[in-house]
Amino acid sequence: MDHRGMDRTEWRELEGSLEDIAPYYEKVNSMMTFGLVDRWRRRVAALAKDDDVVLEIGSGPGSFTRHLASRTIYCLEPSMEFASASKGILDPERVTMLKGVAEKIPLSTGSVDKVFCMFSFRDFFDKPAALSEMNRVLKEGGDAIIADVAKPDNGPLAKLLELHFKMLVPILAHIAVSRSSTEVWRRDPYSRLIDTWVAYGSPAENEALFRQSGFDQVSTEYLELKGAAITRGKKPWKSTS
Ligand SMILES: C[S@@+](CC[C@H](N)C(=O)[O-])C[C@H]1O[C@@H](n2cnc3c(N)ncnc32)[C@H](O)[C@@H]1O
Repeated sequence: MDHRGMDRTEWRELEGSLEDIAPYYEKVNSMMTFGLVDRWRRRVAALAKDDDVVLEIGSGPGSFTRHLASRTIYCLEPSMEFASASKGILDPERVTMLKGVAEKIPLSTGSVDKVFCMFSFRDFFDKPAALSEMNRVLKEGGDAIIADVAKPDNGPLAKLLELHFKMLVPILAHIAVSRSSTEVWRRDPYSRLIDTWVAYGSPAENEALFRQSGFDQVSTEYLELKGAAITRGKKPWKSTS
């Protein structure tokens, strides 16, 4: 994991500055994924059954949760800025908001059927700790699922995507966001998104992290010409023999 030399405090400062994105989150996300973002979210949300107890970690403004049909959903989110943007979007009868981080999930052991991290795994400072917590809260046979733009290991496509996050995303954001808003930013959050992208693993690296955290049946599925990747693993059943 490459945090570009940032320690936990510096990473927290980075995540704090990304909160400035909250009001424009959906607009810019749609631009930077060329309109595909909600298609990907719907494909991932379809993995949950109506009677699954679901946890979404890093639920932000509720952009993924709103596609879930499950009757019992927990949204875990550390940022009040993001969480308050989800008000009025999510069904309070089905969705419980929790404040906290992936590395310390405020739910009991073996209480959840599926855990989703949609565009959020790359924001976690301690990814092994997050996966181990995801494993703890899952029921035996439950699934952990992370999804994001697919990050190739290396080669021309990897370079192109890095350029996309480094150069194109900040330009698109400045087209989408009014000048009066960008002027009050402490630091341009869109030029810092690259740091979370660098800290995100390739599917092979993420699969290895899943296995190290005790998951089995670990696999990756690609969407839309390998534009997005879904990596998932199952919490093993305890042997009864
Ligand atoms: C890019 S947004 C993803 C929002 C939503 N899941 C979606 O589909 O667009 C990432 C979210 O992860 C949250 N986050 C950052 N660090 C976190 C952590 N350690 N644990 C849980 N969530 C975290 C951020 O506050 C932010 O709301």
